[in-house]
Formats: sequence, C-alpha cells, structure tokens
Amino acid sequence: MEISFCGKNVLITGAAGYLGKALASAYCRSGAKTLLLLEVPEQKEKLEMLAAQLRQTGHQPTVKTYYADLTCIQEVLSTTQQVKEEGIGVDVLVNNAGVNVLQKAVEVAEDMWDYIVDLNLKGGFFLTQQIARDSLLERKGNVVFISSQHGMVGNHMRAPYCASKSGLLGLVRALTADWSAFDVRINAVSPTYIINDGNREMLTSAEYKRKYLQHIPLKRYTEPEDVASAVLFISSNCASMITGQNLVVDGGYTAV
Ligand SMILES: NC(=O)c1ccc[n+]([C@@H]2O[C@H](COP(=O)([O-])OP(=O)(O)OC[C@H]3O[C@@H](n4cnc5c(N)ncnc54)[C@H](O)[C@@H]3O)[C@@H](O)[C@H]2O)c1
Repeated sequence: MEISFCGKNVLITGAAGYLGKALASAYCRSGAKTLLLLEVPEQKEKLEMLAAQLRQTGHQPTVKTYYADLTCIQEVLSTTQQVKEEGIGVDVLVNNAGVNVLQKAVEVAEDMWDYIVDLNLKGGFFLTQQIARDSLLERKGNVVFISSQHGMVGNHMRAPYCASKSGLLGLVRALTADWSAFDVRINAVSPTYIINDGNREMLTSAEYKRKYLQHIPLKRYTEPEDVASAVLFISSNCASMITGQNLVVDGGYTAV
C-alpha cells in the first residue's frame, strides 16, 4: 500500500526545526493538502522561508503558518481558535516541538523543570486536546508525539527531559483508551540521537562517538529523514491498526 496524505490536513509543531523541516517536506511529497506549520514567533523568518519553499514544490500544498509559545496554554488556545475560525479540520497532528537542556539532576531549578516539561509534555497535551475537540475526533484523525529513546531509558544530565519524554508514552496509552472509540489513533515515535547540521561536528567528534555512537548497535546516528519516514508510516493508512504504540527509531539503542 502506498503512503499518501492526499486530501489530508497535517499540523506540525516545531516545524522550522531540523526534524520539523524534514517532516513538513515529507508530508508535502506525500501529497498533503494543507500543511499547518507552528513555531515560536522567534522562528518566523525560518518558518516563512520553509513555507515559501514548500509552496513552490510541484505538490503545491496550501501552507499556513502559526506562531505560539507552546509553554503558554493561552497561546495554544488562541492558535487553535485561529485554525478553527479558518475552517481547517486537522487530520494528522505531529507534536514535534521539544527541548532538552543538559544539566545535572542536583542543579535543576524549578523554572528549568517547568520549561522543559511544559513544552515537551503539557503543551503537546493541551494542543492535542483542543485540536481533538475542534476537528480531529470527528475526522477520525491521528496524533503522533515525538518522544525519544530517553523516554524509555535514562541517561545523564536529562532528568526533566527523560521524565517528559516518558510521560508522553503514558499519555499515548491514556489517549488511546479515551479516543479509540472515535477511531482516532495515537502513537509515539522515539528517535535516538538525530544528526543534523547544528550538531554534526559535535556528534562526529571522537568524544561523542565514544559517548553516544558506541551505544548504538547500528553504529550510526539517525537522520531527520529516517525519523520522518517512521512518522509518515505510523500516521498513514498503512498503519491503520496501529495505535497506542511507540515506534522506536534508535538503531537498536534500547534493545541491547
Ligand atoms: N535532536 C535529537 O537528537 C533528538 C533525539 C530524540 C528526540 N528528539 C526530539 O525531536 C523533536 C525535534 O527536535 P529537533 O532535533 O528537530 O530540534 P530543534 O531544536 O531543531 O526543533 C525543535 C523546534 O521546537 C521549537 N520550539 C522550541 N520551543 C518552543 C515553544 N516554546 N513553543 C513552540 N515551539 C517551540 C523550536 O523553535 C524548534 O524549531 C523534539 O521533540 C526533540 O525532543 C530530538
């Protein structure tokens, strides 16, 4: 079966980020009708540039851009209200925005905990809740949360990150219990370290190869496109019986 999003409206958060761009491009290539791209206002220039590029592709999707700080629920609600007023129903929601700040557990202050957990877990939940109320449930849509291998296993300097990404896996199961009755599917995708232009030099240094790469059985970092492929699969009709799951894109990191 071919993966196709023809006629589908896809909302992606953190869309100007490394994985966000790969996701937006992949849904565009797979024929999505409307791409709804959400970012923080600080990323406006980058997001508008991406939107312009996507509009010029042969696929010619409608590309809409939205700006909100997902740690602020008021901004989440005003953005979802804007989407609703524009009459756009969401078929696929990819909660991709997220942050990690490396810090020793004994040094994590409350505001840092709140920032990481509010963005990675709380913001995604309230965005999903409102989109579900407005359109996703009636459209039998589906939701993907980008978790991490660090939602499944612990690692140094990542207490709030691991807690938030683990929390997403629990949220996936809870929403599956609530929303399967509406034929809505909820899944997570959990990548290992994603190599990108911002971290390539660091990740390929001798130190990081020893610290990180050594622990990945396939001995390579994942590319944003590998993760995007997994997200497209799990949000497509090819995965129509898969819900409540966590698709791990980690080269075997959590298996051994
Ligand atoms: N990079 C990795 O190695 C890795 C590994 C596993 C999982 N992940 C997860 O993948 C997702 C994408 O990460 P990435 O590597 O593309 O990083 P990235 O920093 O390039 O992308 C994250 C995006 O989220 C946006 N964002 C940040 N704060 C926000 C806020 N308050 N409200 C709305 N948007 C906000 C940023 O502007 C950015 O564009 C994240 O959820 C991350 O935790 C990343």
